[in-house]
Amino acid sequence: MNILITGGAGFIGSHVVRHFVNKYSNYHIYNLDALTYAGNLENLTDIVNAPNYTFIKGDIKDIPFVNVLFEKYRFDAVIHLAAESHVDRSITNPNAFIETNVLGTSNLLNAFIKLWKDNFEGKQFYHISTDEVYGSLGKTGLFTEETSYDPQSPYAASKAASDHMVRSFGNTFGMPYKISNCSNNYGPNQFPEKLIPLFIHNIQNGIELPVYGDGQYTRDWLYVTDHALAIDKIFHKGKNAETYNIGGLNEWTNIDLIHLLCKQLDEKLGKPEGTSEKLIRFVKDRAGHDKRYAIDASKIQAELNWGPQVTFEEGLSKTVDWYLQNSSWLKNVTSGAYQEYYKKMYGE
Ligand code: NAD
Ligand code: TYD
Repeated sequence: MNILITGGAGFIGSHVVRHFVNKYSNYHIYNLDALTYAGNLENLTDIVNAPNYTFIKGDIKDIPFVNVLFEKYRFDAVIHLAAESHVDRSITNPNAFIETNVLGTSNLLNAFIKLWKDNFEGKQFYHISTDEVYGSLGKTGLFTEETSYDPQSPYAASKAASDHMVRSFGNTFGMPYKISNCSNNYGPNQFPEKLIPLFIHNIQNGIELPVYGDGQYTRDWLYVTDHALAIDKIFHKGKNAETYNIGGLNEWTNIDLIHLLCKQLDEKLGKPEGTSEKLIRFVKDRAGHDKRYAIDASKIQAELNWGPQVTFEEGLSKTVDWYLQNSSWLKNVTSGAYQEYYKKMYGE
């Protein structure tokens, strides 16, 4: 089977590519990635020479390129992760999110059905999405697969639109598909603009920790390799035309999470307890900030026997260790354009 994984040089994509390349020697994995600021081939140095792996640099926005690629490799399945993925960037530049997440997804869908529309037997288009399409929860309740879409940020709206496009291709053209909507991921190789890697980087460098608003916003955190395992289960055993919610059963307010992170870093860096917490600064809130996300993962648990394997304390500790041991990775991705982004976002 020829499988196209898009966005495989990014955070989650690189863990998914590694998992599939190592576990399934009978599949050939093609990793298509434009290598934007978030894509980094250093994430995959351990598998770069695997015989069942090919990297292709290219942009899902480029229609002729996408069509030629599908004709050339005749992908039996697509696992689609390529996206613009950071909420703050979607507030600064919403159109980039429409172009990649909506139009890019539509380009892949068109190329896929052009190839297989006469016989979809054994084919599938698996779209990786986010819980943010459901909007924001109050103090109670969980997102289920039946929760109505109510996206609040341009990022969430673009992902919601891409989910709708995938379902519409299933309904209109009979294209076999699956969608999963996952909660916040964390782990090695995440670009240091998202909360956890950004704060690890800042603590290491004695830079202030910008906590948006009152820090009482809640997220449901999942270790990235647990997401990769869920994707494997859904890809192989999930039902056609179904949606699966994936979550960590692990809610934290931002401020509690930050305190835990500070404590772990003080210990690991051999600093007196309380040192890193002194860097905390409450700053202007994110525009339209979603209050709480939390997933009801009972469907994937019951149907596919999936559950998170890594506890939060363990996962966070592994994540911190990875960043401390991979300072050259962090240094490479935080040079150049990153400095410009940081100044624009948080000031000098
Ligand atoms: P990421 O930003 O780390 O990686 C995205 C990857 O896509 C990068 O390698 C980038 O180079 C590539 N890419 C971007 N635009 C492209 C284009 N036009 N053509 C080809 N490649 C392009 O993102 P991530 O956090 O790994 O998220 C991956 C997917 O999972 C996204 O679809 C995201 O919406 C979804 N998701 C993320 C989370 C999370 O917590 N990070 C949670 C749920 C779902
Ligand atoms: P983030 O990692 O950007 O993920 P998402 O917005 O997709 O959930 O942010 C996680 C939470 O942390 C969110 O409530 C916003 C907050 N946050 C801060 O308080 N400060 C920051 O500098 C960042 C990047 C995020």
